Amino acid sequence: MYVDSMVQKDVHTLSNADVIEMQHLDLDIDVDMEKKQINGFAVWKINNRNKIHELKLDTYDLTIDSVFVDNKSVTWKLDSQIKFLGSALHIPIKDSSRFVKIHYKTGPDARALQWLAPDQTHDKRSPFLYTQSESIYARSWIPCPDGPGVRFTYIARVEVPVGLMALMSAENAYEKNDSGIYTFKMDIPIPAYLMALAVGDLTFKSIDERTGVFAEPGMIDKARWEFENVGKMVNNAEQLYGPYRWGRYDVLVLPPGFPIGGMENPRLTFCTPTIIAGDRSLVSLIAHELAHSWSGNLVTNATWDDFWLNEGFTDYFERRITEQMLGSSYSDMLWELGYQDLVENVNELGPRSKDTWLKLDLKGRDPDDGLTDIPYEKGSHFLKLIEISAGRDKFDRFLKRYFDDHAFKTITTEAFLNYLDTGLIKDDTVLRKKLNIREWVYGPGIPANCPRVPQERFSKVDDERDRFLNDVPPLQLATVNWTSHEWLHFLRKMPPALSANQMKSLDIAFNFTNTGNSEIADLWFIMSVRANYTFAYPAMENFLSSVGRRKFLEPLYGEMVKNPKNAEMAKRLYERFRKNYHPLAQESLDKIVLKK
Ligand code: BES
Ligand code: ZN
Repeated sequence: MYVDSMVQKDVHTLSNADVIEMQHLDLDIDVDMEKKQINGFAVWKINNRNKIHELKLDTYDLTIDSVFVDNKSVTWKLDSQIKFLGSALHIPIKDSSRFVKIHYKTGPDARALQWLAPDQTHDKRSPFLYTQSESIYARSWIPCPDGPGVRFTYIARVEVPVGLMALMSAENAYEKNDSGIYTFKMDIPIPAYLMALAVGDLTFKSIDERTGVFAEPGMIDKARWEFENVGKMVNNAEQLYGPYRWGRYDVLVLPPGFPIGGMENPRLTFCTPTIIAGDRSLVSLIAHELAHSWSGNLVTNATWDDFWLNEGFTDYFERRITEQMLGSSYSDMLWELGYQDLVENVNELGPRSKDTWLKLDLKGRDPDDGLTDIPYEKGSHFLKLIEISAGRDKFDRFLKRYFDDHAFKTITTEAFLNYLDTGLIKDDTVLRKKLNIREWVYGPGIPANCPRVPQERFSKVDDERDRFLNDVPPLQLATVNWTSHEWLHFLRKMPPALSANQMKSLDIAFNFTNTGNSEIADLWFIMSVRANYTFAYPAMENFLSSVGRRKFLEPLYGEMVKNPKNAEMAKRLYERFRKNYHPLAQESLDKIVLKK
């Protein structure tokens, strides 16, 4: 038996919704794009079966205007702000209380919201707003029980300026209307971190009967082409682990400032336009967000300390989908790049660091601190180890049962390990010994039994890189049909700093400076800074001015500040472009560039 030393308590919520049933949310909000404010009310339908005297909800930088319980005004209290967590809102309730209505407005520091001026969008014509609620930012735009362990259904009425369209993680309209009023329904219970809203000049194109894509008009055709296979992806995922249970699956392409790659908002994945490479080579990110429809949205990590149950499972599932669609020589490249990330990340965090355990300890910290490659890559490699050791068929049957047995529930690391023990390992003591579970979950670094995949395609890349380093002219290298992944591996494993001449010869042959592929561009710019290859700087500046994805910005600015000469440039550029980045990206980049 795996017993958690602490009782499973979510340390990142101030709400007491674990003892009061939060059945449903009825949200009614106005989105003021000029004031940059959301204003309206939330009605929580509760069942106070434990006869508690007050309901506590999470808020962050919200102004509370008034609170009514069953239509009667009540005296509420807002605590002072706790770092990271915000302020608990205390509302007196009775045993029989049913409806708690809160009138509120969002504040200027709402961490979930990014308000874009027209020139920060793709089409540069209309303003745009989007939310990013994971991990604990839903509370900055809705007073709510903001922990992954509490689920509720919702309906919403959202009023936006006429001419714009609103979308949520729910059943929604597919066309703009003349009233600017949009209504939404999510009748499957979801946790607060999956609440999502986007407002902008948006249009839709379908892919097949249940999938489609939303984007700004100037982006929609490119996006529709890139996502051609998303319908098939859903079918493939279903073949692996059972039915897709959310009805439709659509993708919304956001403006370039979106701080992450993708977010698995139910029924409507939010994604960065930086995966639209023009050759469908970065679409595995959609496989990842889609996979969350099982791991995460259906079976949810109980607390952010159990984050690997969301992300490790999803990375594993993503690669299985990709393998089904493009073959194992392709998915093995994703596994290998992931392994490289894991090695690098363990080195950065320190091989003995507790932050490299799968089970995290984020008490008193920002849950974003847990957002490293560990839950993703150590998590997915652990599952791959189980797959290899137990056999794929057996593991697949186990996983399918896992999703069925825990559907619409949350799960802790310990409950999963117990389920694994009784459902898969059973009395197979050899298997149990082979897995060495405790070292993976409650131990640092990369365990010795970490699996590696065959290097079929990458070993060819290694050969070509060697030839280049032995002065074979770049155009004579055998690079036909290389995907983004091969190029990434080619560049990643170059010696730490190439000479400006080597950079130039690669650039002349392959035009990396002007590549439309964001993954390659980011790595190339990092190498350019290292090699002082100034020819790439104007393109790099352009990249930094529009792209808001933290995964790209942090290492690139990070590389610049390593050297005092470039640190000046980093500061200058950052001061110009900071306003284009999401508040959460600003927070982490302030630390890197401004050393705040
Ligand atoms: N759920 C995550 C994004 C997230 C995690 C946001 C924690 C905030 C806090 C999403 O599914 C994700 O993992 N996105 C990755 C892409 C993926 C292919 C690894 C990203 O954005 O880079
Ligand atoms: Zn994910």
